[in-house]
Amino acid sequence: MPNPERITIYYFTGTGNSAKVAEWFARVAECREIPSQSINIGKMDRLHIGKPANDALIIFVSPIHGFNYPPAMLHFIMRFPKGSNRIVLMNTRAGMKIGNFVTPGLTGIAFLLSGMILKLKGYHIQGMAPIDLPSNWLSLHPALNKPTVSWIHKKNKKRVCLLAEELLNGKRSFKNWYENIWDIPFAPVAILYYLFGRFLFAKTFYPSGACDNCGVCIEQCPVKAIKSVNNRPFWTYNCESCMHCMSQCPKKAIHTGHGYVAAILAFSSIIVWNLILDPVFDLEFILGPVAGFLLKTGVFFLILTLGYRLVHSLLPYKFVRILVECTSLTKYKFWGNRYKALKDSDFE
Ligand SMILES: Cc1cc2nc3c(=O)[nH]c(=O)nc-3n(C[C@H](O)[C@H](O)[C@H](O)COP(=O)(O)O)c2cc1C
Repeated sequence: MPNPERITIYYFTGTGNSAKVAEWFARVAECREIPSQSINIGKMDRLHIGKPANDALIIFVSPIHGFNYPPAMLHFIMRFPKGSNRIVLMNTRAGMKIGNFVTPGLTGIAFLLSGMILKLKGYHIQGMAPIDLPSNWLSLHPALNKPTVSWIHKKNKKRVCLLAEELLNGKRSFKNWYENIWDIPFAPVAILYYLFGRFLFAKTFYPSGACDNCGVCIEQCPVKAIKSVNNRPFWTYNCESCMHCMSQCPKKAIHTGHGYVAAILAFSSIIVWNLILDPVFDLEFILGPVAGFLLKTGVFFLILTLGYRLVHSLLPYKFVRILVECTSLTKYKFWGNRYKALKDSDFE
């Protein structure tokens, strides 16, 4: 394949990993005097996407959320104008460190689905590359320690630079293709996460007593999912749990409400489903398993919506605030610091 005349990188990022990959790639292009343009899709009008130059190599970089690209990137790719350019699909996933290895995250159906959509639009896929940077999903697990984070950055910078050289030389790169063996079985989970899971996670964030309503989270949210309600940030169902707000809050005042989400889950499943819906109405017998499941899920989301509104409106009361904060793992030191990708000068 001929070398590209220029490159255009579209990236989405929550905590900076994907922005880093875009930056490293663009720097290699710059060294080879190939003009490059990096576009943060979280800061552009994603409903009106201009057609890229015909001679540009197009690169998409995004984190993986729930075994797929997050909706912001997936919907962007769906709306992307038709064309015949060469495309490279990249993602950043949850890397961990074991010994001298970075353990791989899971791409799920991100590459297959987006690759198929772009092929149908006329594009040629030149490469697909996952990059395992530190996991930022602090709602689920404690933060990695600083030496591990630095080590993973260093390893991956080298990898991205080598990969960029290869792709800019016109070579194809599908080295991780074999991962489909374990990625494809995650397709049902990816679909369930897209349809339901992400909405549950959207309602796990709340501001602690340290929040001074500075508005940084509202202004910077890449999917405009946070609004101000009663002078406090309020997370809507548009939230994609990208963790940008948590990582950028100057007061570290954004938490994941593990306690109240567990309470809502327990209330819905034990009391509403098991004690009322199942024995009294025997939903699955009357409606069948699929409609029964959908109705129960609908009831769960109704309880979640009302529960989140109620807890949010009661936050001015110290007792409620303390109860919610103390049952939130992100409040505690052992959970580690908020994650943000490092500057190159911090690990080189
Ligand atoms: C809501 C959420 C879901 C995630 N799901 C996955 C996943 O399915 N597979 C994976 O390998 N990593 C997963 N991760 C980890 C991120 O993809 C990873 O940390 C990524 O590098 C973050 O990139 P960013 O800093 O550009 O946002 C998830 C993170 C979040 C916040």
